Amino acid sequence: MKQNKVIWRSPSNIAIVKYWGKKGFQQGINPSLSFTLSNSFTETEIRYQAKKSTQHIVAKYYFEGEYNAEFEKRILTYFENIQTRLELFDHYELEIYSRNTFPHSAGIASSASAMSSLALGLLSIEKTIRVIPENNFFQIASELSRLGSGSAARSVYGGFTLWGKLAGVQKSSDDFAISIYKKLHPVFKNLQDSILIVRSGKKPVSSTAGHKLMDNHPDKAERIHQATKNCKALTGILKEGYFPRFAEICEEEALSLHKLMKTSNPSFVLMQPETLTIIQKIRKYREESGAKICFTLDAGPNIHLIYPEENKAEIRKFIQNELLVYCENKKWIDDKIGSGPKQMN
Ligand code: DP6
Repeated sequence: MKQNKVIWRSPSNIAIVKYWGKKGFQQGINPSLSFTLSNSFTETEIRYQAKKSTQHIVAKYYFEGEYNAEFEKRILTYFENIQTRLELFDHYELEIYSRNTFPHSAGIASSASAMSSLALGLLSIEKTIRVIPENNFFQIASELSRLGSGSAARSVYGGFTLWGKLAGVQKSSDDFAISIYKKLHPVFKNLQDSILIVRSGKKPVSSTAGHKLMDNHPDKAERIHQATKNCKALTGILKEGYFPRFAEICEEEALSLHKLMKTSNPSFVLMQPETLTIIQKIRKYREESGAKICFTLDAGPNIHLIYPEENKAEIRKFIQNELLVYCENKKWIDDKIGSGPKQMN
């Protein structure tokens, strides 16, 4: 057999309701809700050929064109975790080539796009061995992605997605994400995400370590309640289109995430002084202009500025004139809601 390949492009996503804390194996302690981005994606090419070695899993990993031993180790651990779910490891040896459209350390969650593009590729290869029902393909891909990185479960669909069991939402599950709202209100259809880079360096505390600190967090039960309530509220708001309530929940979630970090044991702070200055500026601008705009934060100091397309022109001016001065080398990334992963071959 000659060498074959699959190529998948999969985007990152930005959580409005945050996944923070794990239970079981790679399940969130609470439901989370996000929208998939458009320009920030990982493209992963997996070359596969008949296995010659007797070793159970054979895979080499290249990142941005170069062999990467550190990432390969993580990928091999991931493959060990999912080996009972896929037959392909018995048949093929793999060479994996990944690249991001955004700088690795730009403060964008790269595990969501990296793991989902990898899982989608693996599942496409699995299809050469056994039947994967077409209507289940993305659900299985979401579950496989989740086992690599929780937030990756939400990247396999376009638009808004929900991961975690939520009463009243059919098919919602702790095992995989589902796509929500083909009936999205127009105000949310073309949401923009301008990512203001306050610091691009590596985070002092990884998300994985942060999740762990939720195990014994004194506010854990309250947090689960809050996130569940916010997911529920958003499922209505996304249909009805009431932006001010969306903005309130979005900011409450961002600030709660960082509050949980500050009150963990050990405690840690990922915000920078510029993060707070930008937050204050956004709130003042919203109050004065009445613009539909809000912010969220991931596990880092960078600001995701969220607004509908209708406000784009004036908000771009606001970013340029008032916010970029607080960014590292005036850097920002222009992104928006996207249509989900794409197979490229
Ligand atoms: C703050 O998905 O990166 O971005 O499952 O350990 O890979 P692992 O964690 P990860 O956590 C993301 C945390 C977050 C919030 C979110 O995306 O929901």
